[in-house]
Amino acid sequence: MAYNLLKGKKGIIFGALDEKSIAWRTALRCHEEGAQLVLTNAPVALRMGEINKLAEAVNAPVVGADVTNMDDLKKLFEEATKHFGGKVDFILHSIGMSLNVRKNKHYTEIDYGFNQKTLDISAMSLHRVLRTAWEMDAISDWGSVVALTYIAAQRVFPDYNEMADAKALLEGVARNFGYHYGVKKKVRINTVSQSPTKTTAGSGVKGFDGFVSYAEKMSPLGNASADQCADYCVTLFSDLTKMVTMQNLFHDGGFSFTGVTQAVIEQMEK
Ligand SMILES: NC(=O)c1ccc[n+]([C@@H]2O[C@H](COP(=O)([O-])OP(=O)(O)OC[C@H]3O[C@@H](n4cnc5c(N)ncnc54)[C@H](O)[C@@H]3O)[C@@H](O)[C@H]2O)c1
Repeated sequence: MAYNLLKGKKGIIFGALDEKSIAWRTALRCHEEGAQLVLTNAPVALRMGEINKLAEAVNAPVVGADVTNMDDLKKLFEEATKHFGGKVDFILHSIGMSLNVRKNKHYTEIDYGFNQKTLDISAMSLHRVLRTAWEMDAISDWGSVVALTYIAAQRVFPDYNEMADAKALLEGVARNFGYHYGVKKKVRINTVSQSPTKTTAGSGVKGFDGFVSYAEKMSPLGNASADQCADYCVTLFSDLTKMVTMQNLFHDGGFSFTGVTQAVIEQMEK
């Protein structure tokens, strides 16, 4: 059901790789709610061609940008503001990549060169995006920025590896830039901490299926889906959440505040 929550709003969506991507689901929901969109992803991801299907469905141009490249980001904001004929009202940062996970490096043996790249792509990229927008004054007053994160930033999930540190850094950037952008332009910046979700990035985590079923059993409401995450992002982009900023918001069916559940106790008693 659509409520016209984003009527007249203009947004940039980073990170739609295929139809499972949280960014893909969010782009569809934002479109349903009346937003105009620009889609972006790394040039290597665009070569897969999948994103063109989404672009057609939501009637949006696709602009390639490697999120670690400041020239790419500048061009992206130039093209987006030109396309919209004005500033951007919301941004979804839905980007994550771990080189050490890809190369099967254990947390205790990470390669620091890979690690720097991981932190740049997965966390400092939020700073890069915000800084570019800040310098170009490209986000409207009372605009909204959401980045996706995971609870491994607060608690240990051993196989999440260096991405746990990347998420902690990402949440720090959201808080700190959130302060400055709030003071300057009333722009709000939050992270959404999502349940494990079966996507390309998610499935890269070792033992992911076990991860998903454990979280399902540990969440009073069960795991939140990508579509439900998209719904939540829509509310954060809308005018109904104008005073929410610098927060890490758990969207996980209650997992984050549950000590144990009956389902897990029963499993342990077997
Ligand atoms: N899937 C999960 O279980 C889960 C849970 C919590 C949070 N998240 C977070 O949600 C976000 C989206 O991930 P997803 O699960 O939809 O997976 P996904 O693989 O569909 O999305 C990750 C995206 O990051 C993009 N990306 C990687 N390197 C890039 C670069 N250099 N420049 C620009 N884009 C780049 C990829 O092309 C891809 O589109 C990530 O931040 C992820 O950590 C995922």
